[in-house]
Amino acid sequence: MMDSDARLVQEILRLKQARKAVILAHNYQLGEVQDIADFVGDSLELSQKAAGTDAEVIVFCGVHFMAETASILCPDKTVLLPDMHAGCPMADMITADGLREKKKEHPGATVVCYINSSAEVKAESDVCCTSANAVRLVDKLADRKEILFVPDQYLGHYVSTKTGREMILWPGFCPTHIRIKSQDIIRLRGEHPQAKVVVHPECRPEVVALADEVLSTGGIIRFAANTEVQEVIVGTELGIIHRLRKENPDKRFIPASEQAVCPRMKLITLENILWTLEEMAPEVKVPEEIRLRARTAVDRMLEVA
Ligand code: 13P
Ligand code: SF4
Repeated sequence: MMDSDARLVQEILRLKQARKAVILAHNYQLGEVQDIADFVGDSLELSQKAAGTDAEVIVFCGVHFMAETASILCPDKTVLLPDMHAGCPMADMITADGLREKKKEHPGATVVCYINSSAEVKAESDVCCTSANAVRLVDKLADRKEILFVPDQYLGHYVSTKTGREMILWPGFCPTHIRIKSQDIIRLRGEHPQAKVVVHPECRPEVVALADEVLSTGGIIRFAANTEVQEVIVGTELGIIHRLRKENPDKRFIPASEQAVCPRMKLITLENILWTLEEMAPEVKVPEEIRLRARTAVDRMLEVA
């Protein structure tokens, strides 16, 4: 007899075809969700996939700002987020009103917003970035102008050290990545002296300082595939370990911290993906006036990417 997960998967695949839908999943999703997705990637790769798809429906297995970005790029498609509570707490640390106030204090500053932000915040920004292109993007900004970087202070701090550009940083942070501590890295390096340490730039600066590589989740996937070393200490959300092990069965991946779980990412399940496809809800749709302004910031990013 077929087990219930197998039945769910079969039904999802059948409905996906009937709805002309594509399933996009972030690297932090549950293993079983990654396994049924048409594409798994980082925020930049997922926005590029959304922009290029000819599907009529996008089922976004990730958090709310990612689905919003798909809606910004594909206004004619139906974008579904299987659980509306799947929001990114860091993105919620800044509002459009808050940003407008800050801009008044720094008139003339270029506003760079991390993609982990709402569409309204993107609409108030000059250019968007992800962890995969933030350094390159800030490097390209004209000199002399002040830069206001929102909302991740740690990504902002990392970009500032790499580019030598001073930036005004919004005090946001990722509650998942701050759980990774420098003591974790020091202990694991001691236990695995041959291992390379790769971390996400949302980590605390003292953790970033101890890493061999600082990469987006997509960058971590590529690093793992190409590295000669057999052991990698991974400083990011635990969901990525599924894909790393699946794609590199001969290498060993050691999570920097077992605490680094993003509960909102884990709200997406096979059950609610099926429900979403049945109901064609909940839909994420960015209002046109906001979408057009947010699109300018996202398009500027994609040009550089
Ligand atoms: P990536 O764009 O590197 O996948 O990061 C997204 C994210 O939310 C990290 O916490
Ligand atoms: Fe947001 Fe952090 Fe979760 Fe990424 S891991 S979605 S930044 S809370």
